[in-house]
Amino acid sequence: MPVGNKMFQGEFSEVAEMSNQHIINKRRIINGYDDGLLQASPLKHPWARDIFKGMQKNNWVAEEISFQKDKEQWEGNALTGQERECFLRALAFASNLDGLLVNSLSEVIKPHITSPEVVLAIARQIYEECLHVDSYSCMVEAVGLDPELVYGLYRKDKHLFYKNKRVLESMYRINRPDFSTKSLEGAQEFVEACSTNLIFEGIFFFSAFLVFYNFGRHNKMPGSKEMIQFINRDEDLHVRLFVNIINTIRQEQPEVWTAPLQAQIRRNILDAVDMEIEWGISCIGDGILGITPVMLTDYIRFIGDMRLSAIGLEPAFNVSNPFPWLDEFTQNNMIETNFFEGTVREYQSGSLEW
Ligand SMILES: [Fe+2]
Ligand SMILES: [Fe+2]
Repeated sequence: MPVGNKMFQGEFSEVAEMSNQHIINKRRIINGYDDGLLQASPLKHPWARDIFKGMQKNNWVAEEISFQKDKEQWEGNALTGQERECFLRALAFASNLDGLLVNSLSEVIKPHITSPEVVLAIARQIYEECLHVDSYSCMVEAVGLDPELVYGLYRKDKHLFYKNKRVLESMYRINRPDFSTKSLEGAQEFVEACSTNLIFEGIFFFSAFLVFYNFGRHNKMPGSKEMIQFINRDEDLHVRLFVNIINTIRQEQPEVWTAPLQAQIRRNILDAVDMEIEWGISCIGDGILGITPVMLTDYIRFIGDMRLSAIGLEPAFNVSNPFPWLDEFTQNNMIETNFFEGTVREYQSGSLEW
């Protein structure tokens, strides 16, 4: 029996009386009516289509980025030893995490979703995580980085090994044969898994993004910075998708959102903030190119508060963003002003060049 409510295995007599209205009224993010055929119109969750359309407009591929300058700088003396180390550490964890997301979204999250329009958005998200994995490998090759120092870092660095292990274990907790979203506890565990995903995409990438932007700000590794802008823009929509998934389940099944669950998720987010600060500081050491450990701490806490508020939980830190210059690289938190205008429009549908 597949997970979810896939009803197509039933008999004709069971569906003959069903209307579209009936089907849409029974549609839910989880535990809804789902025949497995992805009928995505009419919509129950129109925000999911908006996100899907936003994702389509964000098309990009790694080949459109030039890493020539990065290669010259990496081979020359443009980066100090500390900067090189920082760059490799940030890249190692970011690439590990994107790989994990391809699998966890496909295996842990998507099978339980019973809203076709949300499934489409997650399927596109999985593709984008593949794109990110591919872009890191294109970057490693184009810059001439030693893959052993990037992909092999977790085998040499205990800190990274245990961070990856903890990330994997927390996401795969519900990936067991007896798991079902049908019970209250199951639905709660699923919401917690979605908040874990929000932690991965909405907190764990952010010290890495900051490191790459800071290099770019100092005219170092500009191709890598540009690639991170593309990835960051995708992640913005992934965060929005999971915030909407969590908040919609809260509306559809309010009994799930108990005080203990809220407390648990809040604790998870605060733990993740601490982990990300610890990891970020292990990358930047005493400080690098104007980023100090104190500033990095405030920044990750600022991001953590944003994620807490987005799903209706009390912010914990009430700090402001210590890096106002990030606005040069991002707009609406993620998208650089000219970046969107200049690079994306060419790739909107109907403008392909053959
Ligand atoms: Fe990603
Ligand atoms: Fe993502």
